[in-house]
Amino acid sequence: MPRDLDPEKSAPVALTESPGKVPSSPDPSKPKDKDSSPQPQKEFIIIPHDQQYSDPTNLHPYTRPLTISDLDSVVALENASFEDPSERATREKFIYRLNKCNELCLGIFCTVVPDSGITAETIPTGHPVETSRPNGAICVLIGHVVAAKTNDLSATDKSMDFPKDWDSEHPSKSDLGHQEAGRTIVLHSVAVLPQFQGRGLGRVLLQAYIQQMNGAGIADRLVLIAHDHKVGWYERFGFQNRGRSKAQFGGGEWYDMVYELKSLEPRATYG
Ligand SMILES: CC(C)(COP(=O)(O)OP(=O)(O)OC[C@H]1O[C@@H](n2cnc3c(N)ncnc32)[C@H](O)[C@@H]1OP(=O)(O)O)[C@@H](O)C(=O)NCCC(=O)NCCS
Repeated sequence: MPRDLDPEKSAPVALTESPGKVPSSPDPSKPKDKDSSPQPQKEFIIIPHDQQYSDPTNLHPYTRPLTISDLDSVVALENASFEDPSERATREKFIYRLNKCNELCLGIFCTVVPDSGITAETIPTGHPVETSRPNGAICVLIGHVVAAKTNDLSATDKSMDFPKDWDSEHPSKSDLGHQEAGRTIVLHSVAVLPQFQGRGLGRVLLQAYIQQMNGAGIADRLVLIAHDHKVGWYERFGFQNRGRSKAQFGGGEWYDMVYELKSLEPRATYG
C-alpha cells in the first residue's frame, strides 16, 4: 500500500540521538551488576524542520507494470531523462510498446500530495491514487523500464523500430518491433527522472525487473545497448558486456549488454 508524503503528517522537528558518553574503563575488580552497570547517557538535539535531511527512502517507491494510461507520464519521463533527443523513444513508439507488450514494461512510482514540495515533470500527468482519499494524492512515475521481445540475441535497429501499420485492421507481417514468440527481451528504455537519480531508485527498478523476468519463464535473456559510461552500472546487476553493438540508433557508439535469465523451476510452471 503506498504511503503518503504529506509533510503535515511528519513531525515538525526531528529528534536525533547524539553519541552517548560512556565511562571509558569500568573497574574490572568490581563484580558485574546488571543494574549498576554504566548506561550510555543519551542526549537529544532538536533539528529545525528546514535543516532536516530528506531521506530518499521517504519516497516509499513502489513498482507496477505500465499500462497505456501511463503514456503521458512515460513520454514526459523519457524527455526529461535523456539529454540527447536522438536517444529518446518517440511517443509513437511508446504507444506501440504499451499496447503490444505492456507486460514487459515496469514503472517505479511514488505517491505525492499537492504542495508537498516535490517537483517532477510527471506530476501533471499523475493519476489519483484512490478516489476515497480527500488529500488529493497522486501516483507519480519516477522511473521506467520499457521493453519488447525480439528473435535476435541482441538489441538491433529493427527491434527498436516498429511496423507503422501495427494498429490497422490487417497489419502486414513484419520483423520490426515486438516479436511475440521471441525469447529475448530488449530493454529499450531504462530511465529515472534526473532529480531522483543517484538515490538507488534505478537499482530498485532494475532489480525488480530482473527478479520478475527470472521467475516468469517467458524469455531466456535480457539485452540492451549502453554507452561505455553506463556499462559498469549494468555489470553491477550481472549484465555482461558483449562488445560493440551494430545498432546505429541515436548515432551508434553502443555496447551490447546481455543478462542470461534463470530458467523456470519446474515447480513454478504454470499455464
Ligand atoms: C541509468 C539510470 C537509470 C540510473 O538510475 P539511478 O537511479 O541514478 O541509479 P542508482 O542510484 O540506483 O545507481 C547509482 C549507483 O550506480 C553507480 N554508478 C553510476 N554509474 C556507474 C557506472 N558507470 N559504473 C558503475 N557504477 C555506476 C553510482 O556510483 C551509484 O552507486 P551507489 O549506489 O553505490 O552510490 C539513470 O542515471 C538515468 O536515468 N540516466 C539517464 C537515462 C540513461 O542514460 N539510461 C540508460 C540508457 S543505457
